[in-house]
Amino acid sequence: MILLLCSFVSLPVSSQKQVAETLSEIREHSLLDFGWRFALGNASDFSKDFGTSTSYFTYFAKAGYGDGAAASSFNDSTWTNVDLPHDWAVTLPFSGSASHSHGYRTIGWQYPETSVGWYRKKFIIPASDFGRKISIQFDGIYRNSTVWVNGFYVGHEQSGYAGSVYDITDYLNYGGENVVAVRVDASIEEGWFYEGAGIYRHVWLNKTDRLHVAQYGTFATSEINGENAELTVRTKVENQYDQSKIFSLVQTLLDANNQTVISQKLENIELKGNLERTFFQKIKLEKPTLWSLENPYLYKLKTLLVADGKVVDTYITNIGVRTVRFDPDHGFFLNGKNVKIMGTNDHQDHAGVGTAIPDALQEFRVKRLKEMGSNAIRTSHNPPTPELLDACDRLGMLVLDENRLMGINKEHFDLLERFMVRDRNHPSVILWSTGNEEWAIESNEKGARITKTMQEFAQKIDSSRAFTVAVSGGWDNGSGKTAQVMGYNYIVQGNIDEHHARFPWQSGIGTEESNTIGTRGIYVDDKANGWMAATNRMPENVGTESGWKFYAARPYLSGLFFWTGFDYRGEPNPLAWPAVNSQFGIIDLCGFPKDIFYYLKSWWGKEPVIHIMPHWNWKGNEGKNIKVTIYSNAEEIELLLNGKSLSKKTMEKNGHLEWDVKYKPGKLVAKGFVNGKNTITTQAETTDEPYKVALTPDRSELNADGEDVAVITVKLTDKKNRMVPTANNLVSFTLTGPGKIIGVGNGDPASHEPEQFTADEQWKRKAFNGLAQIIVKSTKQAGEITLNANAEGMIPATLKLNSK
Ligand code: GAL
Repeated sequence: MILLLCSFVSLPVSSQKQVAETLSEIREHSLLDFGWRFALGNASDFSKDFGTSTSYFTYFAKAGYGDGAAASSFNDSTWTNVDLPHDWAVTLPFSGSASHSHGYRTIGWQYPETSVGWYRKKFIIPASDFGRKISIQFDGIYRNSTVWVNGFYVGHEQSGYAGSVYDITDYLNYGGENVVAVRVDASIEEGWFYEGAGIYRHVWLNKTDRLHVAQYGTFATSEINGENAELTVRTKVENQYDQSKIFSLVQTLLDANNQTVISQKLENIELKGNLERTFFQKIKLEKPTLWSLENPYLYKLKTLLVADGKVVDTYITNIGVRTVRFDPDHGFFLNGKNVKIMGTNDHQDHAGVGTAIPDALQEFRVKRLKEMGSNAIRTSHNPPTPELLDACDRLGMLVLDENRLMGINKEHFDLLERFMVRDRNHPSVILWSTGNEEWAIESNEKGARITKTMQEFAQKIDSSRAFTVAVSGGWDNGSGKTAQVMGYNYIVQGNIDEHHARFPWQSGIGTEESNTIGTRGIYVDDKANGWMAATNRMPENVGTESGWKFYAARPYLSGLFFWTGFDYRGEPNPLAWPAVNSQFGIIDLCGFPKDIFYYLKSWWGKEPVIHIMPHWNWKGNEGKNIKVTIYSNAEEIELLLNGKSLSKKTMEKNGHLEWDVKYKPGKLVAKGFVNGKNTITTQAETTDEPYKVALTPDRSELNADGEDVAVITVKLTDKKNRMVPTANNLVSFTLTGPGKIIGVGNGDPASHEPEQFTADEQWKRKAFNGLAQIIVKSTKQAGEITLNANAEGMIPATLKLNSK
């Protein structure tokens, strides 16, 4: 008989501590990112793909043989040492005949010799682990990965965006060495943007008791009633013993200071051997601190399983108490408060490192977007790295979490379910997207049916959030008929007001809206060099300003996501080779703001802003008219050249101001006025020649954990410390101490320079319009890291970082 007893208890602090101390013995979730070996295989020649010459076996023939590089005994001593995350595509040369959409790197079906990668890693499992359940967890491999442990084939995942967990308990050598081998095949493209190649997200080794909370087995949702709230917690427990187990399930909510808020227990639960069950608990919270954009407050839900008087499992889930709602007439509500979504679409690659983004760099990227007042990210067009969602939870950034493949078959549903179960506890996730611009179906009956069936399936996994799908045409006839929240890709594709009038029950959001395409620091189109002027392209009906004005004027629309926040590799549209990266970003590939950043910061942010575009280095153009644009949220702007006023103009809400100014070197000053008072001033000055290098890190203290990174801005300045906006000098870097450089970049969308160098090569990068970026990673050793930057004929720079 199963007896369930429910009670609320508050565990004393001493027993909390005890629990924490025994935690590592109960459940281990440890990174397996270090000390891998890597080599390129071959997609078309088996003999070059580490197959062996035997005419009898291939990789799959016999359990535990794992032929070739999949075998335990394979000698990988000549392979390269790598740590994860790792993206080998970013190290390959460019070619004008490689894939345009993927950024012209020599990878894909045309390049079989560089499109397969093998990874191997040895790890020890102590004899004392015998009896536990052990699994290996890959958060993301691009793509088509096959995994062996000790020569045993453990599984295969085609998707480059799905996480996979393999139970390896039975295959392990207890008290000895084990080997995991992974073959990755990036020959086929899954998307139409740079996707990288390799094990580009974390790998974990999980160890639990045989009675445990299932992986991603908790799900907490909240309801708010006045000042109080009620949590509904579902917990899936697996009993992988042969015998029945009797246990208690204890939920303890910890506040941000790890203090117990409330604890609730289900006692005397009996679960038969080799069965699993989901338990429901309601937890009442008095005056909880809500998760909001201003105060992204996180609680920890600690789930304990106690059997035979011992804690056998501890499972931690970060949660936020908050509600979300999309209203067809009034837009989006967070905790009952109307919030306009001011978002960007973002792919998952960064300068220097490709898709292998360290956790600290995820945080850096989210912070950059927040700096311009943005409050939302759409993870176009795939489930993101979990640590991006963690950063959004911590920093207060809303997420439209997007699925990759649209369809209703077993594999589609399996991928959809795994992704939603993984992500559904993140308070930052406010909306799911089932797909993007599926041209074959989005405007017809098939699209309407598929969208509806996907939503019905997905709602069983999470009914606390709504679903959208991004549609680029035929809004009234396909997916747009059945999507709960209509996702409009681009206002130029149809009449949104008319669609809304025909579908008044449906909420709407701008899943994509055009940004002002442009290259940072470039003000004249230069197609031969692969650069586009970063000027405001109004009054054409494309661009940031017209997009924002449209959405800002319609309260029924929840908001919009610009295409894109950051530049990304691939899709250099409307240009092509030699341009290799997109220029859609409001921010370049390194995270350096383009001018349009300040337009959005003016109208999205809360601080006073004033920005002059362009720079004031126009040697050779003396006397010619230069269009000067001011982005600001001040009421009036006065522009002065060399102390002489050129006029004062009134700023239109959500607008910008322009002047035609006859170029004369010197100082261009913009003064912003509110209520007739000068509240903010900025200037653009003609600089002298580049004179010295300056290094500025985003953080000067690192964790000595081998994972943390500092993102360092390299600036070329003149004698008076003014950035020279046209300086493109080559800078060389040397590093000493317990750190390593993992990538360099400069935001030039047409640069074909290497982004990474080997241990015996010299790290270097040209600056692009005054700036470059270098990313330094800690090692597991503490100490002082010294970075030197040299440019010929200039004063060098030295930077010290402290790794603790
Ligand atoms: C959209 C698409 C995006 C990107 C963009 C480029 O149609 O959804 O992924 O390709 O166009 O303009």
